[in-house]
Amino acid sequence: MDEREIRLRTSRRRLFLKTAIGTGIGLSLVSAFYVGASLRPKQEVTPDKEPLKPGDILVYAQGGGEPKPIRPEELKPGDPFLLAYPMDPKTKVVKSGEAKNTVLVVRYPPEELAPEVASHGVEGIVAFSAVCTHLGCIISQWVGDKKAGLCPCHGGVYDFAQGARIIAGPPPRPVPQLPLKVEDGVLVAAGEFLGEVGVKAEAGFCRHV
Ligand code: FES
Repeated sequence: MDEREIRLRTSRRRLFLKTAIGTGIGLSLVSAFYVGASLRPKQEVTPDKEPLKPGDILVYAQGGGEPKPIRPEELKPGDPFLLAYPMDPKTKVVKSGEAKNTVLVVRYPPEELAPEVASHGVEGIVAFSAVCTHLGCIISQWVGDKKAGLCPCHGGVYDFAQGARIIAGPPPRPVPQLPLKVEDGVLVAAGEFLGEVGVKAEAGFCRHV
């Protein structure tokens, strides 16, 4: 074997070893990924995290103790909104484990409501998703002089009487309305939310919800 052939064989051997090592590392990474993926706990949807459904009863979010369904006569026109969760009418499970189920309920004098908004409410009582469309905080404060809801995170203000029109702050769109009806004297969801709840997927670079 001359010197040229020896050099050729040595370089082929090196190439083979490099390829073998590279492939081995690659396969190890892939299998580690799959092992990791299979060990990751699956997210369980417990009954309290089920999405709101038509027919769910609206109960007070605050108060503790037994869930208390909301009766129309407990809401006065012009009062601040209250926060509510849906409750499954059969199992009585309150779906408070999913922030997207948080609903705000407010009563206006019927003549102050836009006709379209009024048509999804009951005697001036209307309900909307409480999840801000900016970055997903909960709309939790009432601006009395504007009869509007304030998201405290970045100052988004929603005018519910006009379909949750944005009157201040950065939210990109109104929160969706929830159609209401009264059954057995309590407020009940008459349908799904009339739009997407929370932050829209394409704008969701920093989701809170
Ligand atoms: S999250 Fe509500 S205004 Fe930013």
